[in-house]
Amino acid sequence: MSRLVVVSNRVPSPRERTQPAGGLTVGVRDAVRGTESLWFGWSGQQRADIAKQKPDLDRVDSVTYATIDLTHEQYERFYENFANGLLWPLCHYRIGIIEFSREDLQVYREVNDMFADHLVPLLREDDTIWIHDYHLFPLGEALRKRGVKAKIGFFLHIPFPPWSVMRVLPCAAQLLHELTAYDLIGVQTEEDVRNLDGCFEICGLNKRAYHFPIGIDPAEFAEQAVQSVMAPEVKRLKDSLRGRKLIIGVDRLDYSKGIPERFHGYEVFLNRYPEHKGEVVLLQVTPVSRAGVGSYQELRRELDELAGHINAMHGNFDWSPIRYLTQSAPRHILAGFHRIADVALVTPLRDGMNLVAKEFIAAQDEHDPGALILSYLAGAAPEMPEALLVNPYDAEDIADALHEALSMTPKERKRRWRVLHDDVTRNTASNWSETFLDMLRDTQPQA
Ligand code: G6P
Repeated sequence: MSRLVVVSNRVPSPRERTQPAGGLTVGVRDAVRGTESLWFGWSGQQRADIAKQKPDLDRVDSVTYATIDLTHEQYERFYENFANGLLWPLCHYRIGIIEFSREDLQVYREVNDMFADHLVPLLREDDTIWIHDYHLFPLGEALRKRGVKAKIGFFLHIPFPPWSVMRVLPCAAQLLHELTAYDLIGVQTEEDVRNLDGCFEICGLNKRAYHFPIGIDPAEFAEQAVQSVMAPEVKRLKDSLRGRKLIIGVDRLDYSKGIPERFHGYEVFLNRYPEHKGEVVLLQVTPVSRAGVGSYQELRRELDELAGHINAMHGNFDWSPIRYLTQSAPRHILAGFHRIADVALVTPLRDGMNLVAKEFIAAQDEHDPGALILSYLAGAAPEMPEALLVNPYDAEDIADALHEALSMTPKERKRRWRVLHDDVTRNTASNWSETFLDMLRDTQPQA
C-alpha cells in the first residue's frame, strides 16, 4: 500500500493534550492512525523571516508530522482575511460579511505555492496525496505544475454553496478551474455535490464531486466518556448541578454555529415554560477561534452580553441559567460532559457536518440516553432524522424542542437514541477515509 500524504492548513501537534477543535482533526487523525503517513501543513506559528525555513519534522508512531510557519503578513492575509474572512463566510452562505481584496487573494496563492514548494521534496513517487479544506483549494494545481504525478484527492469539510452565491467571489471561476487538477473531489452532503457540480457545469468544466459524510470513532469516544465520568472535572460539574438537568452546547466560537440564536431560543424557552426555571442549566463550552477576524470579535461581544443578560434577567441568587465558557476543554473531559448531559443543543445556521452531534450520541449511556436537538441546516441532519430537528433561526422552535426533549419519556429517548446510534456507528471516521481513499486509488490517472 502506498504512503498516505495528508495536507491541511492546521496540523494538530501530536504531543499536546488539547487537540484543535473542529471536525477536520477528528476525521484525519483517524485516517492516518496506524497508516504509514505524512501529515503536512501549518505549525500554527508565525515568524518575521521564513526565507530559510525548512519543514519541522516530528515522527510519532506511523505518522510523520511536517509543519511550516507563516509570516505575520501571510497569517493576516491568507489565514485571517482570505480563508476565514472571505471563503468561510461565503461557503456558509453569508455574503453580507465578506471582504474581498486582490492583495489577500495574491497572498492566498502565494501560501499555496509555498506549501507546494516545501511539500514536493518530501514526496515519494507512489504516495497518495489527500488535501483538505478551503485554505488549500489551489494546492493540487500547484503540485501538478511542479510535476507531481501522484493521485491527488481533495476533501472539503465545510459546505459548498450554489453558483448564485459562489459567483460573488471575483476569482470563483478560476478556483473552480483549479479544482479540476484533483483526481477526486469529496464533499460532505448530497446538497454540496449538487451545488459544486452545478458550478462546474456553469463554468463549462467537465468535473464532478462525490459526497463522503465524515464521522467519528464512536467506540473510542464512548470509552472516553465512560472513563471520564470519574474525572474530577466531570464529577465537579455533576455535583454543582445538584440534580438539575444539563443542556450542553459545544462549539468553536463561530457565527456559523448559531450560538446567539441558541441563547435566544433558550430565553424564549425560559419564558414560555417557566416550570423548568431553576431546574435546568445550559452549559455552553465555546473555545475562542480566529480571534483576529472582526466578525469573530463582534460575536464574542454579543455572546458576553447575551449570556450576562439572560443570567441577570432569569437567574436567582442560587441559580444561573447559563454557564458560558470560552476556554477549551480536553476532548476526553468533553466526552464526560456529554455523557452526563440530558440534552445536546446543536443549532448551526450552516455546518459542513457537525461532529458534536455525533459525539453526543456516542457518549450516551444506553440505559438512560439524552436527547439531541439538531439544526436541520447542519450537514449531519439528513443522516440523523431521529434527532429533534429545528430551524435555528426560529427561537420558538428551539424553545419547544427544549421542552419536548426535557419532557420526553425514557422509552421514546431510547428509541430515538438507538436509531441515531446505529447511524453514528455505520458512518465512522474510518469508513469515511477508507471509502474516499479506495475511490481515489481506483481513479484513472489524469492525462
Ligand atoms: C473547521 C475547518 C477546519 C479548521 C477548524 C478550526 O473545522 O473545517 O479546516 O481547522 O474549523 O479552525 P481554525 O481556523 O482554528 O483552524
